[in-house]
Amino acid sequence: MSVLFSKAVLGSLTLQNHLVMCPLTRNRATGNIPNALMAQYYAQRASVGLIITEGTSPSPNGLGYPRIPGIFSATQVDGWKPITDGVHAKGAKMFIQFMHCGRIAHALNLPAGARILAPSAVAAAGEMYTDAEGLKPHPVPLAMTEADIKTAIEEFTQAAKNAMAAGFDGIELHGANGYLLEQFIRPNSNQRTDRYGGPIENRVRFVLEVVDATIAAIGKDKVGIRLSPYGVFNDMPLYDDMAADYTYLAQQLNARGLVYIHLVDHSPQGAPPVPDAMKATFRKEFKRTLILSGGYDAARAESDLAAGKCDLIAVGRPILANPDLVTRWKTGAALNAPDMATFYTPGPKGYTGYPTLNG
Ligand SMILES: Cc1cc2nc3c(=O)[nH]c(=O)nc-3n(C[C@H](O)[C@H](O)[C@H](O)COP(=O)(O)O)c2cc1C
Repeated sequence: MSVLFSKAVLGSLTLQNHLVMCPLTRNRATGNIPNALMAQYYAQRASVGLIITEGTSPSPNGLGYPRIPGIFSATQVDGWKPITDGVHAKGAKMFIQFMHCGRIAHALNLPAGARILAPSAVAAAGEMYTDAEGLKPHPVPLAMTEADIKTAIEEFTQAAKNAMAAGFDGIELHGANGYLLEQFIRPNSNQRTDRYGGPIENRVRFVLEVVDATIAAIGKDKVGIRLSPYGVFNDMPLYDDMAADYTYLAQQLNARGLVYIHLVDHSPQGAPPVPDAMKATFRKEFKRTLILSGGYDAARAESDLAAGKCDLIAVGRPILANPDLVTRWKTGAALNAPDMATFYTPGPKGYTGYPTLNG
């Protein structure tokens, strides 16, 4: 009896199975506005239980990459509506990932008047792709003032309301992979000396204020968060207190009762492993839904669910390349390989054209 393909519960929602589509940035939102091509792509993949959208900015300031969508303007909300409708028509539920890129940005990718903000004026090592000039070094961001922090929280809150207006079932706060929320959590990027910096109680304050504000706006069954303990992507080095800091965060999030925590593990792509003990800590400390992701195939998904390590399994590259992944995993059919060259390029190539078993 498969757990993976049986119905699942997520807060007040029933999911058609235990499989979740990972947030996957695909850079097809020309002008930062969701479009018909994206609607086709998401509907193709809506046989999973839950789709989490690609990273979507709650603010003009958060649009670090080219062609990523937003959810701060009326046009963007209107652009998302046919997408949520198309996914719901196929039976999946849909959460939108709020990705405020913070310092992982470049002015060439941002609309006029937008500012590159971060907890501290510390540039990330590495480079950012721009459509206009190719790779450019990450800039030194502006250190956020308390007023900037307040504004950002208001932007997240308004974006949560916009997400409801656009027909989403909930939101996922992107607290992983080196973007703004994680920039506050980690000591290398957060060198503040006010109540948002220093000890972990202060470094998680911004994240928890965003959680509290979005829960107040749309309800705790509609707010989840993604975290990457031990993640190093986007210049987030390992440090001694990692386990203790994330244990504290797990406890604080549990007290708030948001609907899920979604853990990233990029070790299958060569990143440092997330210790099993860390995943077990989240399982122990957080009483609601735990989603695990990273390198899953059907057998490992089934066995981790059956062992009670988590409640749902999220997949990225397999569903990117196999719109009918549920059928393929159920029947043991061969999988299409993902084409990395078209992960982030504009247009339908490598996006909506992956074949299903039916052609
Ligand atoms: C093309 C691509 C885009 C991604 N974009 C995002 C993103 O927007 N937000 C996010 O949290 N993770 C993002 N990720 C990470 C995935 O959500 C996932 O954690 C990763 O692919 C590992 O899962 P997998 O082994 O099943 O692919 C991206 C990964 C890929 C390959």
